[in-house]
Amino acid sequence: MHIPALDTSPPGTEVRDGGPGSGVAGPLPPGGAGGPLDGLDLFGDGFVRDPYPWLDLLRSQAPVHHDAGTGLWLVSRHRDIRRVLLDPGTFRPDNAQHAVTPLPVAVLRVLARAGFQLPPALANNGTDSHPGLRRVVTRFFNARRVAAAVPVIERLAGELLDTARARIDADGECDLFASFAQVLPCRVLMELLGIRDVDPATLIRWSDASLELFWGTPAPERQLELAEQAGEFHQWLTTTVRTTKATADSFIGALARHRLPDGAPLDPQTAVGACFFVFVAGQSTTGQLIATVLRRALIEPELWPKAAQDTEAAWAWVEEVLRREPPVTTWRRAATQPVELGGAELPAGAQLLLMLMGSGSDPEVFADPERMCPHRTNVRHHLAFGAGRHRCPGASLARTEAAVALRAAARALPKVRLVEGAEGAPMLGLLSFRAPLRVVVADGSRRL
Ligand code: HEM
Repeated sequence: MHIPALDTSPPGTEVRDGGPGSGVAGPLPPGGAGGPLDGLDLFGDGFVRDPYPWLDLLRSQAPVHHDAGTGLWLVSRHRDIRRVLLDPGTFRPDNAQHAVTPLPVAVLRVLARAGFQLPPALANNGTDSHPGLRRVVTRFFNARRVAAAVPVIERLAGELLDTARARIDADGECDLFASFAQVLPCRVLMELLGIRDVDPATLIRWSDASLELFWGTPAPERQLELAEQAGEFHQWLTTTVRTTKATADSFIGALARHRLPDGAPLDPQTAVGACFFVFVAGQSTTGQLIATVLRRALIEPELWPKAAQDTEAAWAWVEEVLRREPPVTTWRRAATQPVELGGAELPAGAQLLLMLMGSGSDPEVFADPERMCPHRTNVRHHLAFGAGRHRCPGASLARTEAAVALRAAARALPKVRLVEGAEGAPMLGLLSFRAPLRVVVADGSRRL
């Protein structure tokens, strides 16, 4: 298990001015004392609900900013993030899965009891074993396999939406996050990976607990509960890896047949680490994307009926949501040596937080970034799936699931409207993951 070695070196000497709505101009003192970025709290409700003013401020005034709250260097311009992602020699991915909130000894004990370890496998692997392991994943989720899975995704979406419609008929409303967005990617992954011996609700619970434990700020008692869940998940994966036959035509079978660069078979801990990441990445993130896609489509005038009729419109909407409001909002790297980036001098070992979400609204790349324009020509230049040698191998599956989900929901529930309180939907706000936790809809043809 890795504990974060959060960088506590003093902030750089970058010169910044302005602040969200502050209108303040002029250089800020190093360390940010009294500066508009002092109020920045990456986990605070204000940032989670509306991060855009902060992201704009960071990008324009302090493109590489040392965040005192987390010890991370926030990198917010599209060009700097790309540079980092495309230079794995200088910026390694080793810290990708570090716990952002240090794990106390009692929590480490729970994890150790479950044999929980995450050795370098995929996202956190900067070693020479990465390309081969990554090929196992890309072969499994390539465009041909994803295209072949569309009927499966449509069937599962149809089943879940039948239930949602029945619930609206009976109760007047239904939460499309809990009943549909969250469940669909889990069911699809289980079908694609041939997993049958666990129920989807359990997999979702394990995956969400792992995200919160490593990317959230849970209190110590909550960390203990989450560690129990992550431990159960790891134990189930370990049993699954140990008992799956190497000849089986499954992802786990392919890992068992895999050979490392020195010809040795993959050790079970690394195979479990690879599965752990694929299971978490393959369901939670896509569920979050579907929730945001549905919510924004229900708010946007005319989009819902259009997505029902026009498949291209659904695809284009998903891509524009990935640009403006992606579920994976940030990703981490660590500097291997002292390096200049965006005007800041970073020390060796600096822990970087790449603001993927903000980069999709960088006006240097995207004109009128705050406007949703589904047919902008360069929409695919967003960095929602990263870039370079770790670029998300599940991108094709995620896009397909989200587009199918939107079209299927708009067809099955043509008359629904979004139901939200004055506060808006409760939001998931982890270091790297953000999405609405409820997308409640009611029959819009009924009188209010
Ligand atoms: C909307 C959904 C998704 C988003 C936004 C997303 C985003 C990302 C991002 C930002 C990275 C890091 C890229 C980098 O370091 O350059 C990543 C890596 C990865 N993702 Fe996804 N992902 C999604 C869905 C999926 C799905 C469905 C799968 C699998 C079925 C998946 C599997 C992976 C794996 C295995 C990696 C590590 C790749 C490597 O290190 O070589 N992701 N993803």
